[in-house]
Formats: sequence, C-alpha cells, structure tokens
Amino acid sequence: MESETTTAQWLAIGAGAFISWLVFNWISTPSPKKFKVEAPEAADPKWTGKILENPTIRNVNDPSNIVCYDPSTGYHIDTIPSPSAEKVKELYTRTAAAQVKWAETTFEQRRTVLRSLLTFVVENQETICQVGCRDTGKTMVDASLGEVITTCAKLRWTIDNAEMVLANDYRSPGLMMMYKDAKVVYQPLGVVSALVSWNYPFHNAIGPVISALASGNAIIVKCSEYVAWSSAYYEKIIKTCLSVNGFDPDLVQFISGFADVGEEVVKSGVDHVTFIGSPAVGKLVQHNAADNLIPCVLELGGKDCAILLKDADLVKTIPILMRGVFQNCGQNCVGIERILVASEIYDKVVNEMNDRIGQLRQGSILTDGEGVDCGAMTMGNQFERLEALVQEAVSRGARLLRGGHRYQHPKHKQGQYFEPTLLVDVTDDMEIANHEVFAPIMVIMKHNGPEDAVRITNRCPFGLGSSVFSADKSLAEKMCLQLRVGMSNVNDFAVNYLCQGLPFGGVGISGYGRFAGPEGLRGLCVPKAVTTDRIPGIKTSIPPILDYPIQNGSKSWKFVQGLNNMIYNPELAAKVNAVVELIKASF
Ligand SMILES: *[C@@H]1O[C@H](CO)[C@@H](O)[C@H](O)[C@H]1NC(C)=O
Repeated sequence: MESETTTAQWLAIGAGAFISWLVFNWISTPSPKKFKVEAPEAADPKWTGKILENPTIRNVNDPSNIVCYDPSTGYHIDTIPSPSAEKVKELYTRTAAAQVKWAETTFEQRRTVLRSLLTFVVENQETICQVGCRDTGKTMVDASLGEVITTCAKLRWTIDNAEMVLANDYRSPGLMMMYKDAKVVYQPLGVVSALVSWNYPFHNAIGPVISALASGNAIIVKCSEYVAWSSAYYEKIIKTCLSVNGFDPDLVQFISGFADVGEEVVKSGVDHVTFIGSPAVGKLVQHNAADNLIPCVLELGGKDCAILLKDADLVKTIPILMRGVFQNCGQNCVGIERILVASEIYDKVVNEMNDRIGQLRQGSILTDGEGVDCGAMTMGNQFERLEALVQEAVSRGARLLRGGHRYQHPKHKQGQYFEPTLLVDVTDDMEIANHEVFAPIMVIMKHNGPEDAVRITNRCPFGLGSSVFSADKSLAEKMCLQLRVGMSNVNDFAVNYLCQGLPFGGVGISGYGRFAGPEGLRGLCVPKAVTTDRIPGIKTSIPPILDYPIQNGSKSWKFVQGLNNMIYNPELAAKVNAVVELIKASF
C-alpha cells in the first residue's frame, strides 16, 4: 500500500516536471513575428490570361525580356526584364554592405528570422504552392511535397541545430602543444550565391537563403528565367520577413535572368557559389568561379537507380516507385530514373506498373481543379530530345508499353505535356540508361541478383541518389555502400533529404561538395584555426639555446633532436635518454 502511494507520488512529480518544462519552453521561446505578403493576382485558380500561340520564354524580337507563362495552359502571366550586368553589380554592392552588420548577429537573432519564416510558410502553404503551380505547371501535391515539406524540414533543422553545428569546435592540441587551446571558429564567408534550377522554384531558392542567413552570410540567388514570375513573389516573402524582424532586406537578393546573368553573379565579387543544374553548365560555372578563385558546390543531377531484389515488398515498394518517377512529372534532381528489377519478379512489376501508369490523368491543376495526377512540363523545348531517347531505346530492343510522345491536351491546346511513359527491357548500353531524362518516363531494366544490379548501377557516369528494396535489410545496406553515389536509402526513395541533418550531393558527373546538414552550413564559413594559452602563467618562450643569434650550433641541434625524441619516440628508453640529453644541452 505504502509503496503504491510512493509510485503515484513519483508519477505526479514527473508529470509536474514535464508540464513545467513545456510551459518554460513555451514562455522562453518568443512567438515569431507574423507578416503578410499580398499574393499575385494570377495565383488565384480562377484567374485566366491571354493564351500565347506557341509560348516561349524568350521572344527573338525582344531578347532582353523574359516571357512568363503558365506551361499547363499557355496563359501569358507577365513579361519581366532580365537584369543588366550593371544592375547585378549594384545589387552585389548593396548585399555586401548589409552583410557587415548581419555577421555580428547572435544565433538567437538569426533564429528569430527563421522562426518567423517557418510560421509564414506553414500558414501560407496554399498560396506558395499555387504561385509555383502557375509558373511551372506542376500539381498542388507535387508542390507541397517538393516545395513546402522540404522547406519546413530545412527550417526546423536549421533553427534547432545551426548554433550547435557552428559553435567553436575545440580540437586536441597534441602533446607538444598541450598548454594551448586549439579551436575552429566558423566565420561567415560574406556574400554567397546560389544559381538554382526551376524545378522547385520556392524550395530551391529559399533553401540556400536559410543556410546563408543561419551562418551569418548574405546571399544572391540567381533564379531561373523559367520561374522569374514566382521568384519575385518568393523574394518578397523573405525580404518582408527580414524587415518585420528589424533586419536589412538587402541581405537577400533574388535575380531572375538568362544564362549571362548567372555568369555576372559568379563574377560579381561573391565569395562562394552553389550551382544546381546540368554537368555541361556546371563546368562553365566552375570555370567562371576559377577567375575569382571562389569555391563551388556543384549539384549536377543524377540517373538514380531503384534496385528491387526478389524479396522486395511490392505492396509498399510500387507506390514509392510511382511517386519516385512521376513526382513533379519526373523533373527532379533526385528522381528515380532507372528501376532495376530482379528477373524473378520482373513480369509482375512490369504488369503492375503498366496498369497504374495507364490510369494517370494529365492537366492543369489550377484550371481543371480535381482529377490531375501529372501536370505540365516546365520547359517547352525538350519534347524532341525525349522522343528521340525513347525511340533510340526501342530501336535497340526496348519495349514501349505506355506513352513516349508529347501529349496534345484536348482542352489546353497550348499546354506543354508529355505522356506518362513506360519503357521496359532497357539495357545499360542504351542512351536512355545513361542520360538524365527529367521527364515522366519510367525506365525498367532487368538484373540477375545483387552483384549484377550493383554492376549495372555503377556503369552510369552519374552518382547522386539511389534506393535498394529488399526484405533483407543488411544485404540492402551492404549494396548501398557498394554503389558509387552520394546518397542511398534502404526501402525508400529520397527520404535522406527530409532528414535535413544529412549532407546532400553526389559523385562522378553528379558534381561535388555538399549542401544541407552540418557539411552544408560549415561549407559557407571560413573554418578559422585559432590558438590561445590554456594554462595561466604558461606561455611559449623560446629557450636561449634556440634564440637568435644561435650561440652554439651543435648544442642547439642536440636540443631539438632531444625534444623530438622525448615527445615522439615510441620507445621508453629513448625518451629517458632524450630527457638526459636535453638537460645536458641546456647547460
Ligand atoms: C659547442 O658545444 C659543444 C658541446 O655540446 C662543445 O663541445 C663545443 O666546444 C661548443 N662549441 C663552441 C664554439 O663553443
């Protein structure tokens, strides 16, 4: 009876402590400042525009302006000037000036901005997605998964971890320097830049901003001309967020423009460049960065494999693969571009995919409302390339079971659509097995067991993400470690990116360097090496025997030789002997 009471009392104390802790946390974390940004008119699903005949992003008669249009309908949204080289320089100067003060802010001040941004993103997720859908032609679900969840995950991780990751990092000074404190101080680089792709206009632009601000940097983001209109709204969000929290909105600049603007940004004086795009353009960026000797992080796409072993749980795996291929119409940096299926389950997987892909509906999510699985293609000049890749594979023995062509939407005549495609019996010598398609094309290949699957995967020059599906967790993990890639998931797809504590990046022609995680944040800093005296009264003093001018060269040599032997000679006898030599040499 007595012990029961005691247990109940302990529980009550525990519960009380827990509640106090919650209340304390609630009180001690100030509620984030809220703000409003007016949504552009065309974000409204009911909005309609003038339909462009054969819409293109650049009009030959007006090459300095960007034509913004909705790829799912052809509606003209806006025409925006691509900025001049002078404009880029002027923006750089303003950004650099704003960074000087920002570098002095505390982590708590930086968190204030990020918390405010997180609240805005969660409360305005629908508008953020509608703006993205209008500009890229994607669906609301694709936008939510790629733009909102990822951004929230990055904000949450950065708010919780940036201070810890960038805190002074104390290192062992070693035996010789045992009286020193040796530490790394992470100091911001200054003005960093990010040249980002159009596939996720909100996340790709805001992601680098979060890391830059958290590490004390200012940032210039060069947004793609394909998403110039939505990027202007997204820029307003971050600038307003900085202003309402009392900081300089010039800390962040979004510049939308054609390729020459990217080059101007890299050469403007920025201290770092993160580039997301193709291997060919990545080489140009690295070349331009070399002129100013600034470091690059290059994320150059992938040809990610999903390997299915014969014991994979198909009920769970098939929906993951469908999402991995058709999310955002396949326009993903990490998207499943090759499915390698064990011969034992090959036919079953092919039949199931054939059924499912046959049911996918294409359209404009804002205009058509419900009932759209796959949106439009953001770039309108890729159809010939895609059809040629499919045809090349078919001519060499692949079977085309679904799609393979540009889709003429009955309602949206000027919409840019590609049919959800299923191409099977693909082999690794075909073009489509080695080129990133960035399109709603499911490529299925056959393998004869784990070793064969690893061999096929590693033949491809890309090496970004990967997945292995199997009931045997340890075999699957072992295979992940054998793949020549930067990221791997067992029984899943791309979830490493939702674990924002992990670095993101590839190997081979997928690029180098990492963003996200501690590696990403520290990559935006100078890891300054600093030493100070650790023990009061003990300082380095050059012994007279080594002081200039050297009095007796052979004595001095004996002294330094003895010092090395005393500290580093592994044998005890040699150490003892060295101490004697040192004493002798000192007199
Ligand atoms: C230097 O020191 C050595 C002993 O270590 C001694 O034999 C020698 O005479 C000295 N030379 C001079 C020039 O004093």
